[in-house]
Amino acid sequence: MSESAGNDAVARFALDPAFVVGEVDRRLFGSFVEHMGRCVYTGIYEPEHPTADAQGFRRDVLDLTRDLGVSVVRYPGGNFVSSYRWEDGVGPRDERPTRLDLAWRGIEPNEVGVNEFMEWAGRVGVEPMMAVNLGTRGVQEAVDLIEYCNHPEGTYWSDLRRSHGAKEPHDIKLWCLGNELDGPWQMGQKTPYEYGRLAAETAKAMRMVDGAIELVAVGSSNSRMPTFGTWEAEVLEHTYDQVDYISLHDYYEETEGDLASFLASSVDMDGFINAVVATADHVGAKRRSPKKLKLSFDEWNVWYQSKFVGQQSLEWTFARDLIEDEFNVADAVVVGSLLITLLRHADRVGVACQAQLVNIIAPIRTEPGGPAWRQTIYHPFAHTARLARGQVLRVEPSSPLCDTGKYGAVAALDATATYDEESGETVILAVHRGQDEALPLQIDLRPLAARHGDLRIAEHLVLSDDDLSATNSKEQPDRVRARAGEDASIDGEQLVLRLPPVSWTAIRLQPASR
Ligand code: AHR
Repeated sequence: MSESAGNDAVARFALDPAFVVGEVDRRLFGSFVEHMGRCVYTGIYEPEHPTADAQGFRRDVLDLTRDLGVSVVRYPGGNFVSSYRWEDGVGPRDERPTRLDLAWRGIEPNEVGVNEFMEWAGRVGVEPMMAVNLGTRGVQEAVDLIEYCNHPEGTYWSDLRRSHGAKEPHDIKLWCLGNELDGPWQMGQKTPYEYGRLAAETAKAMRMVDGAIELVAVGSSNSRMPTFGTWEAEVLEHTYDQVDYISLHDYYEETEGDLASFLASSVDMDGFINAVVATADHVGAKRRSPKKLKLSFDEWNVWYQSKFVGQQSLEWTFARDLIEDEFNVADAVVVGSLLITLLRHADRVGVACQAQLVNIIAPIRTEPGGPAWRQTIYHPFAHTARLARGQVLRVEPSSPLCDTGKYGAVAALDATATYDEESGETVILAVHRGQDEALPLQIDLRPLAARHGDLRIAEHLVLSDDDLSATNSKEQPDRVRARAGEDASIDGEQLVLRLPPVSWTAIRLQPASR
């Protein structure tokens, strides 16, 4: 920590329920299941596993997914979707073809397809977010898929679904119009013009089948893509009236021992979101459109991409270990702060999916035939999803600064808060990015106390550790988790606490009268 943006080495902000960013949309707590590595096979699905249910889904993973508090799950890719034939994954299993998956050099047996995924999603209680292939396929296949999924009955595709055992329509509301089609690694990469036209025509046709759907246009694969900005602008010139969301993807990692910059990853995410909002609003302004487009941050996480050898050197394999990154304490703190950033943009970010759910850069790890356990990053996600309720409050902290190689001096404190009018509960989520000393934090509660009288601390959780490299494993599944915090008290109408170095904190306040 270096000098202070405020007057001293204390961070401060005020909580006022009159200043609201937006509703806490449950869709911000999304996840992602791709046919990749061991996410599906030996991840969510393993018929031979001792906990498998009649459909072959691992019950241990079902339970951990429910406890994670995931709201929406994107499927079936990812890069996988850009050469996927969805028809391969429906109908009698013994008639389904085995295919090469060009994205990850996988052997895809198609034992799991759209109906099995919908069965699994129903069991977990999550909303599906279905992607169509706009890489190697186009309008017709997307229209066939939505007719298969959402049309009640009496047509070729809907009756085929019924004959496959799914009598009721799946009624899938949220659809991605392809995946990362700006990327040279993608099957069927496109220019923004090619993609924009195809996405617009696909959207038009899909809406003719089901007028109630919501559609996500593909944005840049990350903000470092050479076409970032121009891609969004041109794609939206073609699709603005047809879509509800534009997507963002990004992954963060610690590079060359630069922990300070890594801990400030949410500064980068924040700038990315602001840039896409500005681009979308520019297109909207030119069209004199009253519509405010929303953002779908449908792939985000920590991912040690620099350690990934790249798919082209891989042998063709079924369900191989692929990017099964093991996450440590610092990774969990960064995930906590990325969630804070998504909440701080609740007015414009309407969907967010952590990538991915199981094994692939995931909060849940499994061993084939063995246990499933929570990685460190599971904990900030699960607690944020459980605690964040009602409305996101606009908090404007003053904070001491931390020096970073990538972003210059950044605030040591990253924070947001939610307020639930009905229960009167307020939740504060905070990350201390500094590595050396604890950060004193003072929160002015006067406007809250004026509404609810005296407040009390109902819950205080902290994730931090003397060993930032500590991880969880099947032998020590609970080595890293959030523990009860001690250093917080309410002093008059002020909440006073100390945030340990490199830590994530959640505090739930409730009216003392409850
Ligand atoms: O989540 C892993 C991969 O990252 C996805 O398949 C792709 O969309 C992104 O590049």
